[in-house]
Amino acid sequence: MEFFLVKDNVADVESDSVVFFCYERQRLPAAARKIDSKLGGFLSDKVKSSDFKGAFGKTVVVDTPGDFNTKTAVLLGLGKKEDFGALEAFRAANIAVARTGQHSRTVSVDFSNVDREFLKVFLEGMACGTYEYGKFKSSGRRKNRIEEVCIASRRISANYFSGEAAYASAVSSSVAFSRDLVNDPPNILTPSILAEHALSISEGSEHISCKVLDRDEIRQMGMGGLSAVSFGSSEPPRFIHLSYSPPVKSRKKVAIVGKGITFDSGGLCLKPADSMRTMKMDMSGAAVVLGTMKALGELTPSVNVHGIVPATENMTGASAYKPDDVVTALNGKTIEIINTDAEGRVALSDALSYAVRLGVSEIVDLATLTGACIVGLGLHNAGVMGNNANLVKSILGSADDVGEKMWELPLDAELREEIRSRVADVKNVGSRWGGAITAALFLENFVSDVPWVHIDIAGPSYVEKSSDWYQYGASGFGVRTIVNYLMKR
Ligand code: BES
Ligand code: ZN
Ligand code: ZN
Repeated sequence: MEFFLVKDNVADVESDSVVFFCYERQRLPAAARKIDSKLGGFLSDKVKSSDFKGAFGKTVVVDTPGDFNTKTAVLLGLGKKEDFGALEAFRAANIAVARTGQHSRTVSVDFSNVDREFLKVFLEGMACGTYEYGKFKSSGRRKNRIEEVCIASRRISANYFSGEAAYASAVSSSVAFSRDLVNDPPNILTPSILAEHALSISEGSEHISCKVLDRDEIRQMGMGGLSAVSFGSSEPPRFIHLSYSPPVKSRKKVAIVGKGITFDSGGLCLKPADSMRTMKMDMSGAAVVLGTMKALGELTPSVNVHGIVPATENMTGASAYKPDDVVTALNGKTIEIINTDAEGRVALSDALSYAVRLGVSEIVDLATLTGACIVGLGLHNAGVMGNNANLVKSILGSADDVGEKMWELPLDAELREEIRSRVADVKNVGSRWGGAITAALFLENFVSDVPWVHIDIAGPSYVEKSSDWYQYGASGFGVRTIVNYLMKR
């Protein structure tokens, strides 16, 4: 998708569709009034006859009659001006795509009444809104045809626009890449194929290198957690280490770690059939890491970033790890396995220990870790926990900037007792209560005293019930936040 800035009144721009915004209880924007008068009041009549009052997400769609320079005009409600933020900007863009994408190659948008600080997120929303996963459809054309988006505003400079547009393009193609990885079926996207994708990121950028460990190397290195989870699968595991070094030397060093379970059957503690479906998405954290690294190669921020992914299936083969097993993680801590379905944290134990060894100054992990997090926060919020208040705050701030919903849960010290083991240093599951928190408390054992934030993305990573702004399948949730965060480091 290409982005253009035009200084003209949007009513004079040639395009297949035009989009106007209207805040609640405010009059139509000037450009819409201009079109309306050209149309002899056609638009305002339609507004009057509908119950459109500018509430967020409400639209009036008008097919313009006669030879007019746009075929469709969309009036889109933005809600109350004081409530409008990045979340609304991203969603408004998705709605604009939903209302125009089927029949437009070019869309022009009247941006004259939106603050320029929301331009970037809006463009990300336009590009993300046209995402489609059609690889396995033998026939059928793309539903979304938008190729060009013209933003009409006199208040935005060409310079500002090109910077924001370049950023939005890089980030949204990384989001699409991340979504493809998650949407790929688990027989296609195995741990070794995931590692191939990581290698191709490093081949595509002079700033990124990639190291991949195979089954033997994982075991020899002492990664007892990842090894154990992989024992039940005939697909070999991979440990993926991408590193980004900035063109301008920097001493800052961050690790981002992502859970890479390419399919989670639950292992011997087998999931019921209904819960097993969609478990190809259990590598969404890994997909965020790969997507982010790809974006860094293009955006070249001045911070060193290590992207780390323990990748394996969690299966029930004859050698599968078992409840009661005790395994030793890379940092030497022993783990008593209570439930083989709490595999993500076991695989992550090695990845976090590895990040500590690299001497990074902070660690951010993303994982579709617990159903409990969805029970607590619902499908649309990620749960955030960490050992450093400043780091938690800046992750939450970065999420807010881009309109991804995240909410802090307490890393309640009182719950540590839940995962105390009688035979090992720690057990992989506590009681039923506070499951998202005990999972994070488990991870805490492997980060030493490095500032660390854990983001449980089990809810927002995958959409089963779509809407105007939630498309079916992988969402790419997390990429926009983490890239934004790293750009500010
Ligand atoms: N991958 C799941 C968590 C999950 C559930 C992600 C639903 C996305 C949607 C994880 O490995 C898991 O199975 N967790 C168990 C932990 C339990 C055994 C302590 C869970 O949440 O039920
Ligand atoms: Zn599981
Ligand atoms: Zn899992």
